[in-house]
This record gives sequence, structure tokens and C-alpha cells, in this order.
Amino acid sequence: MNTYKELFSLVEQKIQQLNFDKQPKELYEPISYMLSLGGKRLRPVLVLMAADLFDGDVNKAIDAALAVEVFHNFTLVHDDIMDNSDIRRGQPTVHKKWDQTVAILSGDLMMIKATDLLCETETSNLKKLISIFNKAGAEVCEGQQIDMNFEKLNDVSVDEYIDMITLKTAVLLGCSLSLGAAVANANDSDLENIYEFGKCIGIAFQIQDDILDSFGEGEKVGKKIGGDIAANKKTLLLIKAFELADENTKNELQKLIDSTQINVDEKINAVLKIYEKLTVRTESEKLQQQYLTQAFSHLDKINVTADKKEILHNTANDLMQRMS
Ligand code: IPE
Ligand code: IPE
Ligand code: MG
Ligand code: MG
Ligand code: MG
Repeated sequence: MNTYKELFSLVEQKIQQLNFDKQPKELYEPISYMLSLGGKRLRPVLVLMAADLFDGDVNKAIDAALAVEVFHNFTLVHDDIMDNSDIRRGQPTVHKKWDQTVAILSGDLMMIKATDLLCETETSNLKKLISIFNKAGAEVCEGQQIDMNFEKLNDVSVDEYIDMITLKTAVLLGCSLSLGAAVANANDSDLENIYEFGKCIGIAFQIQDDILDSFGEGEKVGKKIGGDIAANKKTLLLIKAFELADENTKNELQKLIDSTQINVDEKINAVLKIYEKLTVRTESEKLQQQYLTQAFSHLDKINVTADKKEILHNTANDLMQRMS
């Protein structure tokens, strides 16, 4: 069994070996730029951990792992256009550093490179891998559209929010684990449980992402704190705030959301004050914990010895404590 650190190093080394030194440079440079900015490399590490879990060879799963990371980075490039985000991983986003056309096209090409990499995977299960990957890919698009639709809606429920983040974020974690498991020829029942484990930690992961967007430290998060508030994102924090607020606070919050006149930093500070007053962070962490517990119930059902599952157990716990 490999540690997160070892798998991370393997992924990092292989990413550096990808060659995007091609023309036109406006198309290829942003890809190298994006992939060199780091990040947690969570999804490719999960691919490799799942391969390891079922006694597969991580070297056989590495192309699938890279495929998922390149796909993830493509979604980030387009997400930053959609969310109007200027900073990612502490550096200018692609559409800011270059322009929107460059970000759209280099993102498109990353998607294509991702499928190329997936097809390089050393497996007799390629059809299965492609179907797992494409299902998640389509769902991410669905989730992203729903996320954008929600910016304009006022009465989004917790259940609708969970469905949205399941699609935009959680399924890709499930997909990553399933790909690794499929390379290692795991059986259908184990595949199902590892996917559900990934989906549940993915939901908890996006709740943490929402929390960090409001309560994190800018330096560590690498994004502008309050970006979700500025964009009227229907995060769990905002939904909980509306649930817990009295009439006056509700009106105040609604006014802040509707206002087009107010300075964005003033808006962020005012909403953050309301969040603090209503302790929405604690409320969100409770739901996050429930999904973590649900994740572990799926992990328990997987047919391998407990010691092998420990690394996934610890990784899931660490993700809930993450600051970046
Ligand atoms: C950011 O993902 C997008 C979400 C789904 C929340 P990560 O937090 O995994 O980003 P990196 O790859 O580590 O930068
Ligand atoms: C992004 O969710 C999910 C995808 C990129 C598919 P967010 O919009 O919350 O991610 P960040 O906060 O910009 O990383
Ligand atoms: Mg987004
Ligand atoms: Mg975003
Ligand atoms: Mg976010």
C-alpha cells in the first residue's frame, strides 16, 4: 500500500512529463500553466488508492488518474469564467491572464486530452472505464448548469443544493475511485460501494469548499474569500442562514442579495456578519459530518480487510479538516 504522499508524488511526476509544448502557444500554454499551479491532486490520488485497495498495480491506473486530473482542471478553467473568479491556487485564472476565448478553447482541449489519456490506460476494461468517466463528465455539466441557475433563484432547499453539489462535485470523486477499482478488476458490489463512498465524501468535500469560501484564509484557499457571496451562489451557508434567520435578518439578507448598487466587499462583509450571528458554519458542519458517516458505512461494506481501508478512512477525515 502506498501513502497519500507517495501517490501524490507519482501523480506530480507524471503530470510534469505531459508535453504541451506545441503551437499555437495561446492554446497550449494555459494548459501547462494550469497543471503547474499544483492543487491537492485529490482525484488522481483517489484513482490510485482504489487500485491499491483491490491489489491492482498503481502504474496501470496512472493514465486514468491523469485523465481525471486533466478533466478536473478543464472544469476549473471553465468554472472560473462562469463564476467570474480572478484568482485560483493563488494565481490569476486563465481567462484573466489570457482572455475568455483562450480559456474556452484551452479548456476544450484539456477535455479532449483527458479522454486521450483515459484510452491509454492499461486495462481489459476500457469500455467500462469510458462509461464511468463519461457518465460523471455529463453529470458535472448538469451540476454546473444547475449551480448557475440557482444564482437567480431565491428559495433553493437543502435537498436541491445536495442534488446540485452531488452532480457538480461529488460524482467525480466517486468516478475516480471507481476507475481505480475497475482497473484492479473489483467486482460489481465493491465498485458500487466505492463509488457511493466517493460520492458521499464528495458532498462533504463541497460543503467544506463552501465553508472555506466564506471562512477560510485567502492565502491558503488561493481564491478570493467571499466569491460565492458576491455571485449570489446558493451555498449551504446561505440556505442555512435563510432557514435560521428571523424576519428582520431575512429581509436584510434578501436586500443584500438583490442589491446591484452596494460595493462588493461591503456586501461580503455584511453577509459574513449575518453568517456569524446565525452560526451557519456549525450547522453546515453537522450536515457534512452526516455525509462522512454515510461514506464510512459504504466503505465498511467493501470486501477487503480493514487495514487496507485505513488510508481511505484517514484521507476522508483529513479532507474535512482541510484549509486549502
Ligand atoms: C475545487 O477542487 C473545485 C471543487 C470541486 C470544489 P479542489 O479543491 O480539489 O481544487 P485543487 O485541484 O486542489 O486546486
Ligand atoms: C466547482 O464548484 C465545481 C466544478 C469545478 C465542477 P466551485 O465553483 O465552488 O469551485 P471553486 O470554489 O471555484 O473551486
Ligand atoms: Mg462554480
Ligand atoms: Mg468557482
Ligand atoms: Mg467553491
